[in-house]
Amino acid sequence: MEKEKKFQQINWYPGHMFKSFKEVQANIKTVDLAIVLVDARIPKSSMNPEILKVLKNKPTLILLNKMDLADIKTLNNWIKYYEEQGFKCTAVDARNKQSLNKIKTKVEEALTNKIQRTQNRGLIQRNFRAMILGIPNVGKSTLINTIANKKRAEVGNKPGVTKNLQWIKTTQGFDLLDVPGILWPKLGDKEVGLNLAATGAIKDDILPLDDVVRHILRFMQNNHLDRLKEKYSLEIEASTEYIDLLDIIGKKRGALIKGNEIDYDRVYNIILNDFRSKNLGEISLDIL
Ligand code: G4P
Repeated sequence: MEKEKKFQQINWYPGHMFKSFKEVQANIKTVDLAIVLVDARIPKSSMNPEILKVLKNKPTLILLNKMDLADIKTLNNWIKYYEEQGFKCTAVDARNKQSLNKIKTKVEEALTNKIQRTQNRGLIQRNFRAMILGIPNVGKSTLINTIANKKRAEVGNKPGVTKNLQWIKTTQGFDLLDVPGILWPKLGDKEVGLNLAATGAIKDDILPLDDVVRHILRFMQNNHLDRLKEKYSLEIEASTEYIDLLDIIGKKRGALIKGNEIDYDRVYNIILNDFRSKNLGEISLDIL
């Protein structure tokens, strides 16, 4: 009951998010396309379907970032899913220059008509303008740095563009309009919240760690039992109770107080770190 209460108290729709929506709405006409970053491990939970409605008919590229951490089969299913919805979509690792070529190809695919029109008129193609959006920790700054080759030159405010939006000039054929603020996905959905917490999109002190770790372990028991056995203990079964799992893992990793009591806070952190650092293998929490 207490935990349920705490969950509901999370401010899923803070004022700055409302502002971000307004900014997207106000500026969408000034760009050629929108680039929406989501976390490849949770391509649904880290997506705000409302923002897709705001983008309406604007060519939109969805990038599933942190592909190195996601399950490849599920990842490909999600790419197909978003492509079938009429978006361009690909998986990337924002830290990696090789992902840039993929992005450039997809940007050109998204803007084929525009490119064709410019060519037909014999005009020189200027840099495209792309609005870039994503929830915190999804890797937006990393991607901007990679695209802009770490030189984040500011173009300054263009007419009609709200003051605190930042234009980033690049030599990749498209400039980026960074929309600050938070575009949280579906409001109040417990599963979404737990997925966001597990991947580190929302800070660890917002949801009870116990709930987040329980969520991860239950998912692993249902989908990757072999990895739990391999990583922690052969004793672990699909039916092992949560508290017993914590005890087994705590003992195995020496997370003990005074030599014999389980230090549950340490166990939580061990599991979270193992999950986030790929120690438990590539995992997609949003299954498709
Ligand atoms: P944000 O602007 O969207 O808030 O995210 P940011 O770029 O700051 O990235 C958040 C964290 O995600 C960073 O790690 C960053 O290195 C990591 N990251 C970004 N893209 C990828 C990716 O494709 N794969 C993986 N595995 N990680 C990625 P950090 O631990 O917070 O910082 P650092 O240790 O890298 O400095």
